[in-house]
Amino acid sequence: MILSKPSLYENYALLLISLLFEHEYPDVNTTNDLRLTDISPDFWYPIAWSKDLKRGKTIGRYFGKHPIALIRPKKGRVFALEDRCAHRQVPLSKGVVEGDSIKCCYHGWAYGRAGQCVDIPYLGKDANKERIPNCVKSYPCRETGGMIFIFPGEPEKADSAAFPRLAQVYNPAFKTRRFNPSVRCHYTFMHENLMDMNHQFLHRRQMGQIKARYLGGDNGDNFVEARYSFARTGNQQPLAERLIFGKHKYDPNKVQPVEEVVTIRTTYPYQSLHIHDKDGDLIMELFAAYVPDSPEGKSCQTFGLLSVLRPKTPFLIDIIWPALGVFTNRIFHEDKEIVEMEQKAWEELGGDHNVEVFPIVKKLRELLLRHGVPHEA
Ligand code: FES
Ligand SMILES: [Fe+2]
Repeated sequence: MILSKPSLYENYALLLISLLFEHEYPDVNTTNDLRLTDISPDFWYPIAWSKDLKRGKTIGRYFGKHPIALIRPKKGRVFALEDRCAHRQVPLSKGVVEGDSIKCCYHGWAYGRAGQCVDIPYLGKDANKERIPNCVKSYPCRETGGMIFIFPGEPEKADSAAFPRLAQVYNPAFKTRRFNPSVRCHYTFMHENLMDMNHQFLHRRQMGQIKARYLGGDNGDNFVEARYSFARTGNQQPLAERLIFGKHKYDPNKVQPVEEVVTIRTTYPYQSLHIHDKDGDLIMELFAAYVPDSPEGKSCQTFGLLSVLRPKTPFLIDIIWPALGVFTNRIFHEDKEIVEMEQKAWEELGGDHNVEVFPIVKKLRELLLRHGVPHEA
């Protein structure tokens, strides 16, 4: 069918109609759907725990849609390569570590630290140099705090990219717990969940009766921060919480004083939580990174470090540590369940229909949109 060109009059009519109905255009939630925003690759991301990669072994992980092979030679540092053999694309992480290289499990092509193919066994040593066709991508890689990090973005940006602060993992005054649950949701739900402490109602069975009080917030180009105190509205204080923070008295006739200040901050793309006591001393710090681990962007791997100040009584922290683990696991399980429900709703509704009213969460959403990149299909 051939359409005739609209006349000038028709063009004016179309313009008028579009202006009249402008208010019906989709708003930012649908045109800039946060769940269609991938995390920026130009940062350092934890991708595995050090303890999961033994000497002389290799493991496979995903950063979004990108498969990553981590290789730990018997001697020397860990390195990271694209987890696909250049020959027939099978995972290199199924291969064998030999010296400073990884040998593909299929025909035995071997790759060095920079991803260069260093041997094709059946071509013979002399022929290799001219006939080796290509190599695989390598990723800048660092190991610290019990985690292996990669830089999935442009490698030349790796050295200047800010490296995150890993809670108090190297401070002997603190004991640090690591947790690593996989969550079936877009990574942005995790940021919103922690930033919005108004969700303590969800944890009413674990946390006793407390109410978050918003003390204020702050934001800048690469961060959003919210500060809260928690007022007790009933006498049930969980044992683990009481052992760490001390007993919080509850008087229904008084306004609850600010006991601890909880500061939650997303410094893109990481998140932290600090708890300071009423003297301003740090008593707990959390570092969290949510690393997308599937091509669709509908799941992420959490890397969490929770550092707790050791009480003055020797070994008390070791005695309460298992109870603290159970307590934090239960809280995290409730958070995991709820964010996975949010993800499911997003999928069923075919987009973000959230009605957000809390200003600091709106700021957080803007931050995640601003620094993220459009979803890679
Ligand atoms: S597929 Fe890897 S060597 Fe052939
Ligand atoms: Fe929570």
